[in-house]
Amino acid sequence: MNLILMGLPGAGKGTQAEKIIEKYQIPHISTGDMFRSAIKEGTELGAKAKSFMDQGALVPDEVTVGIVRERLAKDDCKNGYLLDGFPRTLKQAEALDQLLAELNMPIDYVIHIDVPKDKLLDRLTGRRVCPTCGATYHVIYNPPKVAEKCDVDGTTLDQREDDQPETVANRIEVNLEQTQPLLDFYQGKGNLVTINGDQDINDVFEDVDKELQTLS
Ligand code: AP5
Ligand code: ZN
Repeated sequence: MNLILMGLPGAGKGTQAEKIIEKYQIPHISTGDMFRSAIKEGTELGAKAKSFMDQGALVPDEVTVGIVRERLAKDDCKNGYLLDGFPRTLKQAEALDQLLAELNMPIDYVIHIDVPKDKLLDRLTGRRVCPTCGATYHVIYNPPKVAEKCDVDGTTLDQREDDQPETVANRIEVNLEQTQPLLDFYQGKGNLVTINGDQDINDVFEDVDKELQTLS
């Protein structure tokens, strides 16, 4: 299954992606995660991405399309993939279409997780992540069993640098601008599925899974 997961910052893309890849056994391609790894490893790509991410701005299209092109060409994507957080601009969507045509692995479905804008700030400022395994929690909506410790490995949880309230506000605004043209683009192609993301995490997944089973 070839999937795209769309949604505003904090809509729950990463949270749902973890569940989808476990059930459908496809690789998770998150441009945000790729940039964060590059920053951690101190690569040239990381240095380029950091200044944009710190401000809540988008990383330039050429850079982002370049890393996705490299990743999709790997063998593990031949039997399906889940793109998370890409494409995020119309230009990226057009570049992706061309790339997928070249690779002969077209998108089956675009899943849009829809959450009202006023819920996002709360979700992002309350998010905690595990620096060891990448697991994501929320202090209220998805708390770890022991406060501030990862359930998987006991590591003390961190806050993402771009989850400070000022940066979050900018991220939401930047993404809001880009979202409608993207939704129109995929609506026009007839493979857009919108899911109500304003419900419990497991209920969102149930709805996503129901759609995927009906569609596949
Ligand atoms: P990226 O890492 O993709 O960030 P984002 O799009 O801002 O999305 P998030 O990861 O913040 O949110 P999410 O939707 O995954 O939510 P999550 O599941 O964690 O990108 C970061 C940056 O990289 C960008 O700002 C940009 O600079 C750059 N970048 C990335 N891709 C790019 C691209 N294509 N082009 C250009 N630049 C790019 O959930 C959030 C919180 O809510 C968690 O605490 C979670 O536990 C909780 N939660 C989840 N679901 C629910 C629910 N149903 N109810 C209650 N709480 C919930
Ligand atoms: Zn962990």
